[in-house]
Amino acid sequence: MQYSIKDVNLFSEGEAKIKWAMSNMKVLDTIRQRFSRERPLEGVKISACLHITSETAVLAWTLKEAGAKIRLCASNPLSTQDGVAASLVKDYKIEVFAVRGEDRDSYYEHIKKALEIEPDITMDDGADLVSTIHSENLSFADNILGGTEETTTGVIRLRSLAEENRLKYPIIAVNDASTKYLFDNRYGTGQSTIDGILRATNYLLSGCTFVVCGYGWCGRGISMRARGMGAKVIVCEVDALRALEATMDGFWVMQLKEACPKGDIFVTSTGNRSVIRKEHFLLMKDGAIVANSGHFDVEIDLEDLNDIAVHRKLTRENIEEFKLKDGKKINVLCQGRLVNLSAAEGHPSMVMDMSFSNQALCCEYLTKEGKNLQNKVYEVPEEIDGEIARLKLYSMGIKIDELTQQQKRYLSSWQIGT
Ligand code: ADE
Repeated sequence: MQYSIKDVNLFSEGEAKIKWAMSNMKVLDTIRQRFSRERPLEGVKISACLHITSETAVLAWTLKEAGAKIRLCASNPLSTQDGVAASLVKDYKIEVFAVRGEDRDSYYEHIKKALEIEPDITMDDGADLVSTIHSENLSFADNILGGTEETTTGVIRLRSLAEENRLKYPIIAVNDASTKYLFDNRYGTGQSTIDGILRATNYLLSGCTFVVCGYGWCGRGISMRARGMGAKVIVCEVDALRALEATMDGFWVMQLKEACPKGDIFVTSTGNRSVIRKEHFLLMKDGAIVANSGHFDVEIDLEDLNDIAVHRKLTRENIEEFKLKDGKKINVLCQGRLVNLSAAEGHPSMVMDMSFSNQALCCEYLTKEGKNLQNKVYEVPEEIDGEIARLKLYSMGIKIDELTQQQKRYLSSWQIGT
């Protein structure tokens, strides 16, 4: 067995967290029971580049129980939970290449190690595996059955590769399943972003002015939860429809330059780069807190901030203070990396249950159907999405009504009127 982790002796802390996550991932549990009976992934090699959390551990174990050989690497250098990595290696005999806080070279070295098994399936959160395979022209690409992508940012990257006709194997956009983005992106990111900010700062949200950049599903969740904690929420958005929606959802909507002198906390969740930059930092209040919840660490322009800073220091874990010429201080959380996974533990297990059930069932689908698919980005099959919604409701003890025969006839007829 090969692996590269911080310290295998951290396993017991990780094992406890994995067990806790498992007890809250009931849909995946149902799938795992079937997988261990049917072994649908027998002999399938999977390289997975995901945040190394307790929820990911439950997914990896599910895939292993299905017969797959899986190698894991991190999809972000700051999100790895070293105890979980240790337990995966020691207790679950799963190969992991990830160390919390690893530098760029180590991060990419670990991606290469994950790909060394020449996978049949790649599983990405941010498209780093696909991007490495394509940019380095790796020879095994043509034999890959397919890949899955967990996040909005990754799906955007993959769609542009597909549009240029350069995608070398089919991808399923797990992010775009209804049972993924409506829950994980909205309620998962909403809660875990607030969790990360609070763990890093212990700030009182009640009464503060909280600026959210981006009103996609993640931005909606963050805004909603910040408001729920008593913050006055401002939304900044470049898309007219989304901005209108934010307005009618009851948030203040304005340009970022207008929000800067008002905000106490700023969170980016746009999927774009340099959203908060020099002109914005210069307008902020003394003590402003800036955090990112988008996949890559490019949304807050730290080069710009560094250029206008006269001094930088770590004030406490996960907070770096940048002092500007006029004495004003700006606090950046987690080096501008995903605050929910760097300062907290990412989304709760109950929501990852649905996201990772999509991943597991899409791996089974690719194993059966991958060779019949084209080199395109596909939606998650509707049956999978529907099955996960049904299983989740069932696991929550919620029953819903069924249409009567009369109602079904009514819905399928065009003649019935007033
Ligand atoms: N992405 C967001 N939250 C996560 C979690 N808890 N585990 C894995 N990936 C995540």
